[in-house]
Amino acid sequence: MERVELRTVEELMAALRACRGVWDTPDRSGDPVDLHDHALQTAALLRRGHPSDKELQVAGLVHDLGLLLCPGDDAGHADRAADAVRGLLGERVARLVRLHVPAKRYLSAVEPGRGLSAQSALTLGAQGGPMEPHEVAAFEADPHAEDAVTLRQADDAGKVVGLDAGILEDWRPVLELVAAGIRSTAAYSS
Ligand SMILES: [Fe+2]
Repeated sequence: MERVELRTVEELMAALRACRGVWDTPDRSGDPVDLHDHALQTAALLRRGHPSDKELQVAGLVHDLGLLLCPGDDAGHADRAADAVRGLLGERVARLVRLHVPAKRYLSAVEPGRGLSAQSALTLGAQGGPMEPHEVAAFEADPHAEDAVTLRQADDAGKVVGLDAGILEDWRPVLELVAAGIRSTAAYSS
């Protein structure tokens, strides 16, 4: 499968716009909101809980783009989205996006009774199931683990039919800000 890279905020905005009417399962048997509304709800929840952490918010906004880029790839969609945004939004955002599936496997191990959507419970098996104890220990040692769990909790909550979570265009300046920070860091270190 060809690797997709979103090189500009405009390309990323176009991909997010394209999520309207696209579902996590092509036959619409999965979660009840489309990928566009899910992205906005997840990002809005993170903005409410972590208003100063723009990178965490945009990670929430883009975390499921892999399902747009390769429909039905439940096991690989997090890595796919991380690869697509790494150059534009930076290593931390990519890492948080990549960890949103391991964070689900982690939470399923440490909080086995917590509610997942029926679709998330279904795909958990394809993603490796709940973590084994040695995987839990390795995950907890990751410096991004706590933020990845925060993203995952917003991800699981951001699936409410009919909830107005704002408009995509409002995220453009936030994406520009994060992308500009990454460009200046790259320029400084080169
Ligand atoms: Fe999601």
